Amino acid sequence: MAEAIQTLSTKHLLGIKDLTVRDIELIFETADTFKDVLNRPIKKVPSLRDITIANIFFENSTRTRLSFELAQKRLSADIVNFAASSSSVSKGETLIDTVNNILSMKVDMVVMRHPYPGAGVFLSKHVDAQIVNAGDGAHEHPTQALLDAFSIKERYGEVRGKKIAIIGDVLHSRVALSNILCLHKLGAEVMVCGPSTLIPRYIETLGVKVEHDLMKALNWCDVANMLRIQLERQDIKYFPSLREYSMMYGLNKQILNSLDKEITVMHPGPINRGVEITSDVADSKQSIILDQVENGVAIRMAVLYLLANQRNK
Ligand code: CP
Repeated sequence: MAEAIQTLSTKHLLGIKDLTVRDIELIFETADTFKDVLNRPIKKVPSLRDITIANIFFENSTRTRLSFELAQKRLSADIVNFAASSSSVSKGETLIDTVNNILSMKVDMVVMRHPYPGAGVFLSKHVDAQIVNAGDGAHEHPTQALLDAFSIKERYGEVRGKKIAIIGDVLHSRVALSNILCLHKLGAEVMVCGPSTLIPRYIETLGVKVEHDLMKALNWCDVANMLRIQLERQDIKYFPSLREYSMMYGLNKQILNSLDKEITVMHPGPINRGVEITSDVADSKQSIILDQVENGVAIRMAVLYLLANQRNK
């Protein structure tokens, strides 16, 4: 009997909210296989050699853009890269016109980062291609949450029952919302911690604990996911100064060593060293920041591979 084609329950990856628990488990199982491939001398498989993918980035990115591009190359896809800053968007071309022009060159899949929440959903309703959300404003960053949860599973063997504190600028963070949704689906407990101005009102309705005292959050958690202060999304002052923020919510080695247990430190990047986290913490044995980046390639290979399988169903 022919083996069943493994794929996701959704045509696009727009947000964690659209994934079932089985989808997430399947992504992790597939990423495990691709991680083995990435550790072989020949790191390439022919799985997507008939697929063309456009990476369109309307916002800056280092990790996500490079990681998607590497994942696509490892899967033998053809790729085109588009950065809004050097395109005809600056001459007034709309998002749909831009993407339709790219699609008329026979592109199958679009990986998009955009500053507006919902941009991926909008695009998925108007163009005939599979859309992967690489971050839409302060809304969702699904592949970041998947690689974060995968890294926690790798560290502890399972995510269920683990206590994760998401600390910092939760208000402006797409990583926070996607992490909350993903970790809950996998059975973890989640706390958010930061000054009240940077914690969204009503966030408790998502089933998270809220804490404003950093030491209490650190003493509660197994994993501290430290978020960057997103000054570029802040139109008003949410705290008196970066120095004061750092004194109240910055994680340093002295604090880490004062805890009576060894917690794991994560950060989605980019890091503002000396603000939310000091260098001796970021580079310590307790930090899995670079493991997160490494796992990002395997997770993105898994997502692209499973979405592409939809075509063969
Ligand atoms: N974590 C993350 O999204 O980083 P980039 O903005 O560099 O892609």
